[in-house]
Amino acid sequence: MVGKVALITGCSSGVGRELCRTLTEKGDRVVATARSLERLEGVSAALKVALDVTDQDSIKQAIAAVMNAYGRIDVLVNNAGYSVRSAVEEIDLEELAHLFDVNVYGIVRMIQAVAPIMRQQGAGKIINIGSVSGRLTGLVNGGYCASKHAVEAISDAARLELQGFGIQVSVLEPGAMDTDFFRTLSQNSDERMQNSQSPYHPFYQRDLAFRKKQKRADLSKATGEIDAILARKRLKGRYPVALPFVFSLLLALPERLREWLMLRV
Ligand SMILES: NC(=O)c1ccc[n+]([C@@H]2O[C@H](COP(=O)([O-])OP(=O)(O)OC[C@H]3O[C@@H](n4cnc5c(N)ncnc54)[C@H](OP(=O)(O)O)[C@@H]3O)[C@@H](O)[C@H]2O)c1
Repeated sequence: MVGKVALITGCSSGVGRELCRTLTEKGDRVVATARSLERLEGVSAALKVALDVTDQDSIKQAIAAVMNAYGRIDVLVNNAGYSVRSAVEEIDLEELAHLFDVNVYGIVRMIQAVAPIMRQQGAGKIINIGSVSGRLTGLVNGGYCASKHAVEAISDAARLELQGFGIQVSVLEPGAMDTDFFRTLSQNSDERMQNSQSPYHPFYQRDLAFRKKQKRADLSKATGEIDAILARKRLKGRYPVALPFVFSLLLALPERLREWLMLRV
């Protein structure tokens, strides 16, 4: 039996790259995508295609290449994403717009491109990689958290709209994982966060110190959990992935106590 055709965005590193390996080993026909094909060197996949989730033409060409090769798409994993840190008062609006372009509009563009194909098949799974930051908003992280809260809402709406066509939509909410994510974040944000003139300097310093000692889940553990979720016949709306107990606890606490802890600990 031939494996499922699984299209994944953001496969040049981290979750996307490791998920390509896991699904390929299982026998799925993985379509690995990233902005640049060179960055896909060494990635395990049946097909590699350039795809920038902010570029409609690039998406159109990539989907055409997949349909040309396999004539179907069974699974779409919307994984491409990144983060920047800033206090709300200091967010650069262009930067915020780009963050939403990748993390939110990128997912919407991909759903718009793939849902008609899955509708015609009468089946398909769409997995959106959100974050625990889509449930819990931290200090100096408002922009990224807003984008991941938006992923939750888009996923919920699409899930209700598409289920009658045999398409299941689910959002995954990972905790911190050991990927390039934090390297990209440091490149985007750390210099600005060193500005001692900022009224938010103490918050920035605390965030920088926290990130240095933060425990991050092993990537293969996280993608193992994702693989198990993908193998389910019926998907729930959302799944935590590699979520440390402290976050589950914070989510369960009354708001005032949670905020008190977040400001002090
Ligand atoms: N790592 C964590 O702690 C963590 C926690 C919760 C959620 N997440 C989420 O998990 C997902 C994967 O992140 P990761 O941890 O694997 O980080 P990563 O190693 O930095 O990988 C991010 C991927 O996104 C791709 N990407 C960025 N902009 C893109 C664009 N415009 N079009 C297509 N691809 C683009 C990058 O590819 P190129 O730059 O090579 O194009 C890269 O392959 C993200 O949605 C992230 O928000 C991560």
